Amino acid sequence: MKTAFHVLALLAACVCLHAESPAPSTPAPKAEHGQETELNDKMDEMRGAFKKLRSQIANPDANASSLQLVARLRTATEASIPLVPEKTQLIPEADREKFVAAYMAKMKDFLAEVQKLEIALQAGKNDEAATILARLGTMQKEGHREFRPAKKD
Ligand code: HEM
Repeated sequence: MKTAFHVLALLAACVCLHAESPAPSTPAPKAEHGQETELNDKMDEMRGAFKKLRSQIANPDANASSLQLVARLRTATEASIPLVPEKTQLIPEADREKFVAAYMAKMKDFLAEVQKLEIALQAGKNDEAATILARLGTMQKEGHREFRPAKKD
């Protein structure tokens, strides 16, 4: 009887301990810099095309190749518009819709500039193309500052 009492007391203690232990925590939202996301894949495509374009934008002899690179940039940009940035998870729920809409608007502005770049190159206006490319670089920085998860250094 005494043993049965001990067993019961032990069981009760276990139940109490269990009740006091914290509820299983939901995993923290993951929105880290450089994760494997569909948007990061598209961005990698943009990086390759953008880097090469920078090196040859001023050279009219390279315009045929530059137009191919701009087409790659355009395709990746178009594909990026409907994607949702990882950082959205870190935004308070009430502001998320606004955040995603702002991202889409920025990406559409970016696309409009890419289209201007294409027109300038088709017309052989390399100086104008170089100015537009520099603007795209600025838009990249702005887009990353606002919509990309911060780097953990
Ligand atoms: C020339 C233009 C651009 C290039 C070359 C570029 C390049 C990149 C690269 C290489 C990454 C991956 C970063 C990493 O893995 O560390 C990235 C991520 C990202 N970029 Fe861009 N980017 C450009 C323009 C933009 C613009 C205009 C926006 C916003 C409107 C934007 C939004 C983002 C976001 C949100 C991520 C994080 C991916 C995610 O949330 O899944 N980027 N970009």
